[in-house]
Amino acid sequence: MSKVTISTLNRMKAADEKIAVITSYDAGFTRQIEQAGMDVILVGDSLGMVVQGHESTLPVTVDDMVYHTANVMRVSQRSMVIADMPFMSHGTSEQALNTAGRLMKEGGAHMVKIEGGAPQLDTVHHLTARAVPVCGHLGLLPQSIHQLGGYRVQGRGEHEAERILKDAYGLQSAGAQMLVLECVPPLLAAEITEALDIPVIGIGAGAATDGQVLVLYDMLGITVDGIPSFVHDFLADAGSVQGALSAYVKAVKAGVFPGKEHTFA
Ligand code: KIV
Repeated sequence: MSKVTISTLNRMKAADEKIAVITSYDAGFTRQIEQAGMDVILVGDSLGMVVQGHESTLPVTVDDMVYHTANVMRVSQRSMVIADMPFMSHGTSEQALNTAGRLMKEGGAHMVKIEGGAPQLDTVHHLTARAVPVCGHLGLLPQSIHQLGGYRVQGRGEHEAERILKDAYGLQSAGAQMLVLECVPPLLAAEITEALDIPVIGIGAGAATDGQVLVLYDMLGITVDGIPSFVHDFLADAGSVQGALSAYVKAVKAGVFPGKEHTFA
């Protein structure tokens, strides 16, 4: 059982092999996720909503992220693990370095994820120049929810799409080694995936990205307000958590998830 590293993911992109990613926040689910053959685990700050019951990801602290990352890392054996840099933990390059240091040294994460484009480029460069592997995050940025005014598709207009494409190039140039694209039109996601050398992982971004990520609780249907339209409830079909996780990995690898019904026009 060889460990998944960024080299594995780069090889998968080159070979057109889809990358399966899911969020996890604890040891119990992580064991089942690894059993299903997941390539990457994201300890997302979505934990603020699905685990802690907040209305957004904003209240999540660095201590919370370190705690949940350590829970995952304690049992993880094969998947590559990325930890989110929470809201207000990366306002300056020095603060970001301190946060990333804690997520990697205390939490054990292999990579950190940071939301945002142009305003983050100096910070991303600061981190990557100091041996911190970084995953960018563009499109719908949940930490900017009060600026955006709601959870909706980003990059529909020509100018917005150009800005996201430019930010994607900028993040790659600043040293980011992966990119998450959240809720952008599928054609824009396809263009960015084709243009970049680094693996691009989509959520609500169509089927053309190098891989897919879902929030674990969404794909298991464990949500109070129903699941977003770009998510499939894999537990409803499979009947067990292990079955749902295996079905998700299989569907991503086969390129059948997301289908047209999960894709924004
Ligand atoms: O926090 C999270 O779970 C995420 C995913 C939605 C990509 O950032």
